[in-house]
Amino acid sequence: MDQASSLRKIVKKQAEGTLKKRMPNKAVNESGKRLPRVIAVTSGKGGVGKTNIVASLAVAFSKLDQRVLILDADLGLANIDIIFGVRPEYNISHVISGEKSLSEIIFEVRPQVRIIPAGSGFENLTALTEGQKLHLLSEFEALDGVADFVLIDTGAGISANVLYFNMAADDCVVIATHEPTSITDAYAMMKVMSTNHGMKRYKLLVNMVKDEGEAKQVYLTLSQAVDRFLKGTVLEYLGFIPQDEKLRAAVLSRKTVMEKYPEAPSSQRIFSQAKAFIDAPVPLDGGGNMKFFMQRFLHHLNPIRR
Ligand SMILES: Nc1ncnc2c1ncn2[C@@H]1O[C@H](COP(=O)(O)OP(=O)(O)O)[C@@H](O)[C@H]1O
Ligand SMILES: [Mg+2]
Repeated sequence: MDQASSLRKIVKKQAEGTLKKRMPNKAVNESGKRLPRVIAVTSGKGGVGKTNIVASLAVAFSKLDQRVLILDADLGLANIDIIFGVRPEYNISHVISGEKSLSEIIFEVRPQVRIIPAGSGFENLTALTEGQKLHLLSEFEALDGVADFVLIDTGAGISANVLYFNMAADDCVVIATHEPTSITDAYAMMKVMSTNHGMKRYKLLVNMVKDEGEAKQVYLTLSQAVDRFLKGTVLEYLGFIPQDEKLRAAVLSRKTVMEKYPEAPSSQRIFSQAKAFIDAPVPLDGGGNMKFFMQRFLHHLNPIRR
C-alpha cells in the first residue's frame, strides 16, 4: 500500500469515528418531541447580507418541508419583517414584561415560517431579574417540537447579546464578504469569542462574491489567521453566495429572492445550503431543545470569565 492510500484510510476512519459520535439530526427530547437545530447567523460587520440570507434560508427550509422559527435579534435597518413585508405589533419585550405569551407574539410570515420579533427586547438582557429569566425559560420550553430549525439573525459586531446567541446556538455561521473590513471584523469577532468565551467552532459563508475562487480566497485569509493566532479554533468553509442583482430586486418587492426568483444564482446556492444543513449531523455538543437553548443563552448573561 502506498503512503497516500494509507493516509486516506486513516482519514476516512477518523471521519467515521467522529460521525458515529455525533448526534443524529432527528434527536428528540424526553417527551418524544423533535428537537430543533439552532443556527446563529452572525457577522463582524453589518450590511453583509445576514438578514437576507436568514430569510431566504428559511423559505428554502420550508420548501424542503422543514418548519422554521426565526429569532429576529438584528435591530439593523432592513429587519426580517421588512423583507417578508409584515409589521408585527408585539415583540419579545412584551413577553418579558408579561403582557403577552410567546405564542401570542410569534408571527407566521409564510407557511411553515414563523418569526419571533425581538424589537429592543434583547437589548437590556443583563437587566433581567431572576424571575423574568425563569418566565422566559418556561415560555421557550413550550416551543419544543414546533420547529425543525431555529435561525437567529443576530445583528453584527461584538455586543454582548450577539455573543450570547452565538454561544447558545448549535451552529455559528459567520457571514463575510471579500471586503477587507468585513474580513478583519469577522476575525476580530471570532477572536473575542474564542479567547474570552472559549468558543471554538465556526462556519463561514462568504456572500456577495463573483465566484467560488473569490470566496475561497476569503476563507484562506481567515482560516490562516485563525490557525495561526487562535489555537484550537476551527473555521469550516460552508460555501458562498454570489453577488446577485436579483437579490436586491427581490428586496424592493418585499419578498425574499428565494420566492421571487427561485432560479437566481443566489437562490440556488442558498437552497443547496439548506439541503446541506438537513443532511449534516448536529454538532457533537449541540441538539438542545428550546428550553436548553434559552438556558444556555441566559446562563451566558451572568458575568463570564475573561
Ligand atoms: N448576494 C447578494 N447580492 C447582492 N446584494 C446583496 C447580496 N446579499 C445582500 N445584498 C444586499 O446587501 C444589503 C445588506 O443586506 P442585509 O441582509 O440587510 O445585511 P445585514 O443583515 O448583514 O446587515 C442589502 O441591500 C441587500 O440587498
Ligand atoms: Mg440585518
